Amino acid sequence: MKKSEAIHLITVKKGDITKESVDVIVNAANTSLLGGGGVDGAIHRAAGPELLAECRMLGGCRPGEARITGGYKLDARYVIHTPGPVYVDGRQGEPVILRNSYLNSLNLAKEKALKSIAFPAISTGIYNYPKNEAVKIAVDTVIEFINNENCKIRVVFVLFDDENLQLYKNYLKGLR
Ligand code: APR
Repeated sequence: MKKSEAIHLITVKKGDITKESVDVIVNAANTSLLGGGGVDGAIHRAAGPELLAECRMLGGCRPGEARITGGYKLDARYVIHTPGPVYVDGRQGEPVILRNSYLNSLNLAKEKALKSIAFPAISTGIYNYPKNEAVKIAVDTVIEFINNENCKIRVVFVLFDDENLQLYKNYLKGLR
């Protein structure tokens, strides 16, 4: 698939990911998978206590890996939980871990033959990843996956702040 075709499967919007009507939403979790603040907290609040009950049985998750659960009270059928990297200085393997969070989430979605997935801007909040670096890893990894796997999955980047929204819009415009 040409890069340009892959780009047509990607959309960017500002909003609350818990409201997305897609097959699966991705949660920027922590390694305990037992909830937290930010988007993690919002997803658990919206999904209800059954989500935490299922997460408890997963036994945690390493940074960059991903686990899938039901979506419960969310519109989304599933939630994929992935701990992104805690950003230190960019030289502790953070870029690879962030790329793996997107890649492993997409692989789980492909395994379930899901047709649509929504991502937040993983690690760019509490984990402090520089937004202008994270956007390139997020978008490039998604395009690479769609091309390599020839996988027609609709990808929505749901941003919660204007800075991320502009960065994603500008980066994608530059690729078109
Ligand atoms: N919808 C979409 N995006 C959201 C929402 C929401 N409802 N709430 C927050 N965000 C955005 C933030 O603005 C940020 O751009 O999600 C992005 C990721 O920020 P965090 O949620 O802080 O996640 P992260 O930086 O990956 O840190 C993970 O935070 O919540 C805890 O348990 C989590 O310990 C883990 C850490």
